[in-house]
Amino acid sequence: MKKITKAVFPVAGLGTRFLPATKAIPKEMLPIIDKPLIEYAVEEAVNAGITEVIFITSHTKRAIEDHFDQNFELEEKLMNSGKKDFLNKINRDIFQNIKFTYVRQKSQNGLGDAILHSEHLIQDEPFAIILADDLILNSPSCIKQLISAYEQNQSSIIGLNEVPKNEIEKYGIVSVQESSSGKTLLLKDIIEKPKTNAPSNLAVVGRYVLSNKIFEYLRNLEPSVGGEVQLTDAIKLMLKNEKVMGYLYEGIKFDCGSRHGYVNAIRHLAEEIFEE
Ligand code: G1P
Repeated sequence: MKKITKAVFPVAGLGTRFLPATKAIPKEMLPIIDKPLIEYAVEEAVNAGITEVIFITSHTKRAIEDHFDQNFELEEKLMNSGKKDFLNKINRDIFQNIKFTYVRQKSQNGLGDAILHSEHLIQDEPFAIILADDLILNSPSCIKQLISAYEQNQSSIIGLNEVPKNEIEKYGIVSVQESSSGKTLLLKDIIEKPKTNAPSNLAVVGRYVLSNKIFEYLRNLEPSVGGEVQLTDAIKLMLKNEKVMGYLYEGIKFDCGSRHGYVNAIRHLAEEIFEE
């Protein structure tokens, strides 16, 4: 069985909902208190056994590269001013043996197009996808839960949660085979952001473990919802030929791509600080 060692992080999005904060700073670098959103996502992946982190990025996102690189000047200043304790904050042990790769997506043609940019790096392996906007707190983490479920089922698997009716049109929505129950569900269909006739209230979260076959379906896709090439459409095609599972993960999710979710995440983690 092939182990999941690679994770793709699409980070080329514009972050329009957070302007003006995101005019000069990538939205993924917005802090949840003192740690940028993207670091939570990479930490989640690395703690789940990922050793290759692949960012699909754009020319406005250089700060992400800098964040995961060494900053010798700052390190030296901290060393020389008796602030050695801060060194592990900027140069974390858990990232020491991780390979970081950056691929530029020239124009924002959607999540499906972003993932297709990782094909040459993923090659013939199954891999994880993490959308950093979705901050999910749990131990074991959401991606760890999906990787374990992948290991048990040997098929692509997507994180799912139930959403209220009025939020259905914000997500990829799945229908499941009548015979399936429990946490691991066999998918029947998937549709991106349905405005009417949604098949269920089971929404896709930003965590996937996919077979590399997904690239075959992504390659010939036309843009759809929002004029973008959608990963959901490729999964829909894949479902016709192979098993794809959904997994009702455990954890609290904050949609940090929205102001509401972002503030709630900060509020939640702030409680821990007040309790210290
Ligand atoms: C993307 C996917 C969608 C999924 C969502 C999870 O949408 O296209 O299927 O439900 O992530 O966060 P986006 O939020 O990028 O519009």
